[in-house]
Amino acid sequence: MSPVDRYAVAGNPIEHSRSPLIHAEFARQTGQALRYDRLLCPLDNFAAALRSFAAEPGVRGCNVTVPFKFEAFALAARCTPRATLAQAANTLRFDADSAGGWLADNTDGIALVRDIERNAGVPLAGARVLLLGAGGAAAGALGPLLDARPQRLVVANRTLAKAQALVERHRAGAAATGVRLEAATPPACGEGFDVVINATATSLQGAEVPLAAAVLAPGALALDMMYGPSAQGFLDWAQRHGARGRDGLGMLVEQAAEAFFLWRGVMPATAPVLAAQRAALPSAAARPVKAA
Ligand code: ATR
Repeated sequence: MSPVDRYAVAGNPIEHSRSPLIHAEFARQTGQALRYDRLLCPLDNFAAALRSFAAEPGVRGCNVTVPFKFEAFALAARCTPRATLAQAANTLRFDADSAGGWLADNTDGIALVRDIERNAGVPLAGARVLLLGAGGAAAGALGPLLDARPQRLVVANRTLAKAQALVERHRAGAAATGVRLEAATPPACGEGFDVVINATATSLQGAEVPLAAAVLAPGALALDMMYGPSAQGFLDWAQRHGARGRDGLGMLVEQAAEAFFLWRGVMPATAPVLAAQRAALPSAAARPVKAA
């Protein structure tokens, strides 16, 4: 008898991850038989831990979270274009034919775009968008954000060189989509953005939002990729300045759905799962967590 198909989310720490609950709900909803676990990987030997997991009977793929997304990308034999642009992977598919090898994907950016456009109801086409941060989370988001064709997209980062490098890597995408793409430091990023996305670690650190209130256009959407109590500081900042705050929970559910689709070929409905996760959040989110 062949074992049930198996998946996991690999990270360190990992015990906080909501992914097993989300994927169990997707499996139930779509009638798919699978098992999805948490995989705690040692910080100094991610590759060995992952290879060992992949060799177990029934294992078909995994999600990858902090701090292993760059390593996961490097370990794969093949990459989707969006993973290549991000140079980071949050999803791996362990294809059975050894010629194909592991496929790396990055579903974070498309998840962010879906959450903004579909769940929050804010169109990105023609919008002025500020992406704060130039680390792994921002890198995953930038390609799909460009594909949504905002009018202007500014990547603002404390370390300007990192924002510039990220922008340079996306020059072709910006040209193809006609988006005005710029790099800046937060104090010099400009004013009046319709959508402001916090992809930095500031909420995780409980640090101040490193942005002037003038970055927010009236009624702007201000989204932090964090969720749970650690997103509260950013949400409060947004509300204080007349913006609509949004946390990263919707993005988390959407990235899981896209991974589920890559593995199973079926796209689950995300709205009921997001609603259930939202209802469970206040008591369950005891520690900081980030969607990307
Ligand atoms: P992740 O994979 O979660 O994006 P990362 O790659 O370590 O994590 O990136 C962290 C991001 O948060 C970076 O953009 C970092 O800015 P620097 O490139 O200047 O380091 C940003 N960041 C972290 N702490 C910050 C702070 N206190 N103020 C502003 N930006 C901060």
